[in-house]
Amino acid sequence: VAEMTEEEMYATYKGVYLPKVVHSSESLKYYEEFSFRPDDILIVTYPKSGTTWMQEIVPLIMSQGDPELVDTVPNWDRVPWLEETRACNLNLDQRPSPRVFITHFQYNMMSTGFFKVKPRVIYVMRNPRDVFTSYFHFSGMASYLVTPGTQTEFLHKFLDGKAIFGSWFDHVKGWMSAAEQQHIMYISYEEMILDLEASVTRIAQFLDTPLDSEMKRKIAERCVFKNMKKNKMSNYSLVPSEFMDPNVSEFLRKGIAGDWKNHLTVAEADYFDEFYRKKMQDVKYTFVWD
Ligand code: A3P
Repeated sequence: VAEMTEEEMYATYKGVYLPKVVHSSESLKYYEEFSFRPDDILIVTYPKSGTTWMQEIVPLIMSQGDPELVDTVPNWDRVPWLEETRACNLNLDQRPSPRVFITHFQYNMMSTGFFKVKPRVIYVMRNPRDVFTSYFHFSGMASYLVTPGTQTEFLHKFLDGKAIFGSWFDHVKGWMSAAEQQHIMYISYEEMILDLEASVTRIAQFLDTPLDSEMKRKIAERCVFKNMKKNKMSNYSLVPSEFMDPNVSEFLRKGIAGDWKNHLTVAEADYFDEFYRKKMQDVKYTFVWD
């Protein structure tokens, strides 16, 4: 059987690939016309950077640690993607404030309403080498993505921005140089791995939701990889295996920083470093992984 190509499986929206199965012209129109509220919370990530993790942490902070929502509602409904087709049917305009959403969109793909209202944004970033490794495994298990080919083939696609949601470099550089940053909080996956409780504290402060130290400890404890992996509302086990096949690779796969070292060959890692240096030479910010 011939493998399906990017052109067959993906639509192009503002220059980046989106999987046709979960995005439609209807959902993109819904997204463009979406009415933000100033107290909305929008989590923004490049894929494989800590999306699912934040879909657990933020609701727990907002509920002062009450786990009911995260225990009973799947992550894609409790913190829905604004650009996905399912968002159109969730009556998001009827949700009480503060609403929590997620998007994988790049900065320059954001809607006019977003720039006008300036909702609170939590931007999560991750070492692109680990994003790549996670993405490579994910592309093998998710049937709505083009099969990745060999690791080297996928490495070129990833670096050249031919994966869904486009280039990691454009994504991070775009959001890092957002014109107005008072409403944006930047956090990295690595920071969260290093000290989850401190990260919970920082996020809670940004969201003006004071938590006592016992509550912070409890939220962090619930959200560590091995515990969160058990939550069937968050580990993607509710998705039929014809869409996501956990026998190929689990969604909550490894949950560590630096797994790329177990996967990239020396040649691939060198190529990555060189590409990264060129692309990031104009970026002043020092990332945790630099
Ligand atoms: P790995 O494939 O490296 O394990 P996203 O949610 O943005 O799609 O990202 C998925 C990645 O985040 C996966 O990385 C997944 O294991 C990791 N992840 C999800 N929940 C996590 C948690 N509680 N702690 C650490 N990593 C987590």
